[in-house]
Amino acid sequence: MNDLLYVNGGNPLRGEITVRGAKNFVSKAMVAALLGETPSVLRNVPQIRDVAVVRGLLELHGVRVDADDASGTLHLDPSDVEIAHVADIDAHAGSSRIPILFCGPLLHRLGEAFIPDLGGCRIGDRPINYHLDILRQFGAVVEKRPQGIYLSAPRRLQGTKIALPYPSVGATEQLLLTAVRADGITELSGAAIEPEIMDLINVLQKMGAIISVDTDRVIRIEGVERLEGYQHTALSDRIEAASWASAALATGGDIYVRGATQPEMTTFLNTFRKVGGEFVVDDEGIRFFHPGGDLRSIQLETDVHPGFMTDWQQPLVVALTQAKGLSIVHETVYENRFGFVDALVGMGATIQVYKECLGGRPCRFGQRNFYHSAVISGPTPLSAADIEVPDLRGGFSHLIAALTAKGTSQVRGISLIDRGYEHFMDKLTALGAEFSRD
Ligand code: EPU
Repeated sequence: MNDLLYVNGGNPLRGEITVRGAKNFVSKAMVAALLGETPSVLRNVPQIRDVAVVRGLLELHGVRVDADDASGTLHLDPSDVEIAHVADIDAHAGSSRIPILFCGPLLHRLGEAFIPDLGGCRIGDRPINYHLDILRQFGAVVEKRPQGIYLSAPRRLQGTKIALPYPSVGATEQLLLTAVRADGITELSGAAIEPEIMDLINVLQKMGAIISVDTDRVIRIEGVERLEGYQHTALSDRIEAASWASAALATGGDIYVRGATQPEMTTFLNTFRKVGGEFVVDDEGIRFFHPGGDLRSIQLETDVHPGFMTDWQQPLVVALTQAKGLSIVHETVYENRFGFVDALVGMGATIQVYKECLGGRPCRFGQRNFYHSAVISGPTPLSAADIEVPDLRGGFSHLIAALTAKGTSQVRGISLIDRGYEHFMDKLTALGAEFSRD
């Protein structure tokens, strides 16, 4: 794919687009299919690169995957799961964070697993210490080798009691995917409870797992001997929906996001309203629009669910450059998620980043020299520029900034965006955006 987009901005985005299943759920549900003795069917699957990467990894491990792209249906048949060649797995190194979640299912099925160097967005250190600690606690042997990490399970994995130091999404999923077939009971405290995790629990329960979600972030799992395949329709992508909502706000537009659902977006919708955006929820989706007049500055802190998602932050920051007054955004999930603002400043935004925890409770990054708070002063008109996409969400924000700015911007590295935004160029066209490819 050609990686450069010329974007002629300054016009409101108006029209209708559709979002399908959540990237951060679908990829995990695909991995869960490995645990079943019979085939699974996953619906509402978007055509994004992360799905293709996980599909490739599953196929390397002997899973037969058939896709109907138009309807977004995946058939996953794990009857012939086998050990993949290290060199083949290694070819996927750096392209996604999902391989780490193959560990539990592969240890159950094959007694061993290999994890290459992980990819994903460069938005912080993104360690995997919680994952490895969890796997060790279940009884896995973890060996770091030059090509990656080799894991083995000399005996059946054993249920265990684990307290997470931070409610990590990936670590909670790691635990779920491992505990469901471990021997005995596992109790996790400090669990992440994002809607995507709840939907993964739905899938695992359909497969035969016994999982209870108790109050205060405690999840209990009774291991079972055997799991079957599942049939499931993925929950909608609330990050993509919020990204288009922010695009509507920043450009003064009006976008109907078919497929967007309210319950998973309550916190975003409250914030959207406080900034001055309006929305209408119906049975099919949510209409997001700029009602005219000034947008208002806000104070915002990202957090784990049910807080304001870290992935909603970057697109909204672009809209905040158009709000009147000083907005304060405190990022508490990742230590390094403001790299994308340099490009916005280059386009005329007034944004200053700080190492201090501004405007909210102190977080774990406060004493550690990370620029994790931002003050945005607006409104400032944005002007066209030559910008380089830094990561998935930062990249979409750059796209919104280019669509907001008058004149023609050059946005480089746009192939990063289709990791998580299905057919985003077709959607831009449907919304009346003016752009061309080199
Ligand atoms: N962390 C550790 N050690 C670990 C794991 C995590 O210190 O072993 C820390 C991380 O460094 C981070 C915090 O815990 O500071 C939270 O990370 P988490 O594990 O929750 O994130 P993740 O599972 O790697 C998923 C999404 C991210 C999303 C976060 C938070 C996927 C594939 N990725 O990442 O999505 O931002 O949860 O909701 O599900 C994106 O879609 O663009 C994206 C980055």
